[in-house]
Amino acid sequence: MDPDYWYAVAYESELPRGATLATRFWGHPLVVYRGTDGSLHALEDRCAHRQLKLSGGEVNGCHLTCTYHGWTYDGGGNVVHYAHDLFGRARPEVKVPGYPVTTRHGLIWVFPGDPALAAERTIPAIPELSGSRPWARLDASFTWQAHHSMIIDNVSDFTHSYLHRRFRPFWDAKLTRHELTEDRVELAYETFVGGGRLTSRFVDRRRVDTTSIELVFDYPYQCSDTGGSIKHWCFVLPMDRRTSRVFFIFYFDAVKIPGTRWTLPRVLLQPFMRMAGALVVKPLLCEDGEAVEAEQLGYETHFTAPIVELNPAVGLFQDLTIRKWEEFLDRDRSRPRPSSIAAADGRIVP
Ligand code: FES
Ligand SMILES: [Fe+2]
Repeated sequence: MDPDYWYAVAYESELPRGATLATRFWGHPLVVYRGTDGSLHALEDRCAHRQLKLSGGEVNGCHLTCTYHGWTYDGGGNVVHYAHDLFGRARPEVKVPGYPVTTRHGLIWVFPGDPALAAERTIPAIPELSGSRPWARLDASFTWQAHHSMIIDNVSDFTHSYLHRRFRPFWDAKLTRHELTEDRVELAYETFVGGGRLTSRFVDRRRVDTTSIELVFDYPYQCSDTGGSIKHWCFVLPMDRRTSRVFFIFYFDAVKIPGTRWTLPRVLLQPFMRMAGALVVKPLLCEDGEAVEAEQLGYETHFTAPIVELNPAVGLFQDLTIRKWEEFLDRDRSRPRPSSIAAADGRIVP
């Protein structure tokens, strides 16, 4: 995926003050750390001295110190202190790359590409989650051993309802629209949404139209909308060729009390969401995880076997993904120094 976008790498709650967090973008190791002063920074996860991972270091104030010889980095990646003798030399000016980092929707976002482009790229806004009456929110995140494109295919291609025959989140889907325009694929299905034994009791079908769903691959993010009342965003972090972390945010404008016409009072929404997450949403998404991991293994075993693809929308995601990567490589070749992401090329780093 094109690194010149913002990518969610972790929840804010995963990184307390004074902690480091190691992650990767397309094989390229990154460390995110939160200073003891609360400031957030992202650097290449590599000490410029002997290439140890900086994520194994120690945070002091807004600085990160490598654990081996104690070289200390500031938030921009400059070595600002050497904890040993310099053998009579002037203090060397050494640096590792730093990356723009920010927070939004409770997530930490890193811009792994050209920092000059960070300001013009936007993280999707989710107005429904702010304001005086935010919608009920349900989060789920997984690290799956699968190529990022398999995950985008999975969340957008509703021909796999058979996999979810136990939960029936969608059923009998018919593709009614699919269109690629610039950096966006839009599609719609006529389908029966939320028909599972448990979920169907909480969906207010008198109020919400659950007979169709609209999906968008708004590169590099994916989202859906059912009847203007049930929505989700899916943010994929391509860690390497066969590892992706995925963050789902589902949000609902209201939830019905089973057997009644009433909606659940607001104070009960978040506890209900936690329960729904544990009983339905996470087990359901685990089915997807097992499927895409099996698909990855299938691909690695039968590398040359042709794929018989019946859903015309899937080709659109893949065309867009390939085009965006090629555009990034073209941009990168014209830069004075090629990006370390292109050089890492998805290699699997332990
Ligand atoms: S390897 Fe990091 S300070 Fe020496
Ligand atoms: Fe699925």
